Amino acid sequence: MRSIWYAMTINDIDQRRVALLSALEAINSAEMLESFKLAHLVRKGSIAEMFEQLKNVSKEDKPVVGKVLNVFRAEIEEAFKSLEATLGSAKEVSKETIDLSMPARSVIVTEPGHEHPLISTLNRMVGIFTAMGFDVAYGPEVEDDEHNFEKLNFAADHPARDMQDTFFVKPTADWSPDSAMKPALLRTHTSPVQVRLMESGKLPIRSVMPGRVYRNEEITARSAACFFQLEGLVIDKGISMADLKGVLLEFARQFFGSDSKIRVRPSYFPFTEPSVEIDVSCYLCSGKGCRVCKYSGWLEILGAGMVHPNVLKACGIDDEIYTGYAFGMGIDRTALMRYGINDIRMFTENDYRFLRQF
Ligand code: DAH
Repeated sequence: MRSIWYAMTINDIDQRRVALLSALEAINSAEMLESFKLAHLVRKGSIAEMFEQLKNVSKEDKPVVGKVLNVFRAEIEEAFKSLEATLGSAKEVSKETIDLSMPARSVIVTEPGHEHPLISTLNRMVGIFTAMGFDVAYGPEVEDDEHNFEKLNFAADHPARDMQDTFFVKPTADWSPDSAMKPALLRTHTSPVQVRLMESGKLPIRSVMPGRVYRNEEITARSAACFFQLEGLVIDKGISMADLKGVLLEFARQFFGSDSKIRVRPSYFPFTEPSVEIDVSCYLCSGKGCRVCKYSGWLEILGAGMVHPNVLKACGIDDEIYTGYAFGMGIDRTALMRYGINDIRMFTENDYRFLRQF
């Protein structure tokens, strides 16, 4: 663009103005902007050269041409500055991106998510049962008295129905305890899902039912008001206690270790007869006695039994033809043992330092 004028006219200046403004418009990098500056705006650049040429302009024209030249320079400088402001930040970024020695971005960006220890314990349990041919069923967490208690053979005055143990949900705003309407409740165990499965009328049944349950309990390091259970139910012709023992021994061997043993103790639940509690030999000390099993050699893991004939009848199943077993276990305490955690509240506090260890 360098040229020498012998008699610079206003028209010449205007042509140069159009040329420089379109050159500025084409600039899209800090480097291009820098070369524009070196060519036109520095002390020996093309604009300064135009001012030099003023001396060749005739005396009469000089004031007008000089004025036009000043306006031209101001316009180009202003366009340059505003472009510099927008490209300036881009320049810094482009400098950063070519620094190959930069450390990787912060851990939070690159770290994958973690499976919650409760969910991974639950999934592992469910996986063992599905591999043995069980399917998985779910039910609502807000239940009614009929499914949570009545059809499970709980007597009308059973203490579990007491307000002290169960969270009730007001069915209507003006509901009171004297009302004939039974309130809804947060299920206190996963056993109501058994009732729903049996009521559906599809037999045989061979299912596990994982889920959250709620009890009005004091929250401590060992107990929570909301926790997880895994329920199991098998209904078919000719099912006996031997089937229950076989399945649970296999479960214990896969979950706690291949040399695990189980122990069956008599117990009581309204919905099973006979009812049992099942312990597994302590996986840590192999039954010798340690801190985890409180020096007994055994860990209590679940309640179980043969489904009570009253429950079968209440759910529309012919108890002369069908029998079945059921079991229910808590997930949280097993997860505590599995990971050596000593406070159940850690599961729900969402402390990232805790969660990221799993
Ligand atoms: N529902 C019982 C509870 O929450 C656990 C239980 C015991 C479930 C025996 C069962 C069973 O299915 O057969 O304490």
